[in-house]
Amino acid sequence: MDRPIAMFDSGFGGLTVARAVIDLMPEEDVVYFGDTARYPYGPRPHTEVAAYAEQITRWMVDHHDPKMIVVACNTATAVALDRLREIVSVPVVGVLEPGLRALLSVSVSDRVGVIGTVGTVASGAYQTLVTDLAPAIDLTVAACPGFVEFVERGETETDQVHVLAERLLAPVSEAKVDALLLGCTHYPFLARTIADVMGRDVVLVSSADETAFAVQSQLSIAGLRRPESEARGATQWISSGDITVFADLGRRLLGPELDQVTSHRWE
Ligand code: DGL
Repeated sequence: MDRPIAMFDSGFGGLTVARAVIDLMPEEDVVYFGDTARYPYGPRPHTEVAAYAEQITRWMVDHHDPKMIVVACNTATAVALDRLREIVSVPVVGVLEPGLRALLSVSVSDRVGVIGTVGTVASGAYQTLVTDLAPAIDLTVAACPGFVEFVERGETETDQVHVLAERLLAPVSEAKVDALLLGCTHYPFLARTIADVMGRDVVLVSSADETAFAVQSQLSIAGLRRPESEARGATQWISSGDITVFADLGRRLLGPELDQVTSHRWE
């Protein structure tokens, strides 16, 4: 099966998921779209983010014939996953449920936290999922506006981001959670800062690895896996913004596979 796995995010955040997918299934081809011309998605109205997600998904299907779409963005997953599953015939995997399942599996106290963009938190998607999956869990949710912009500028460990983190993480700190889901795919790049603020007793959970496992299992069930004996898969990186910036920062964040970036400008 030589069709690629297509993934997208507003920018660099989905690279955390791409890294996990490549590490778990190096033989698969991956095509990644970073919508850096229109980031951040978090503060935008839900209808606008849903329209972007739909546009990217259709474009990926038309131009890259993927065997699966991975919505490597919590905000887009929260507001558009159901719709995307209606409009394309290939499987569509989001990041919310895999991340939440991982969070629930590591918590001992059953007091957990989720941090995400304003859009994700306001959508109520995590709150609804917890009610469905584990209603007895004590969930505290906090929005972290500004985190994504620090990552997109490549500032992941500055004093400024630390000061912001102290303020924005106060609700989850005060709730005495024992596990915290980084409910935005950009946030694993801020893990050191977030860990410093939350302290050693709080386990940080990223949705990237769990999403990669979900991708693997859905491909297997659908009979779409490429044999593991195959040579290393090809990767393709596309950005709607400045491709030089995407190549430089992207390589720093993802690693050497991010070698060449293609431009796709929206009209
Ligand atoms: N990385 C995305 C998410 O997981 C989008 C962040 C943004 O563009 O605001 O929510």
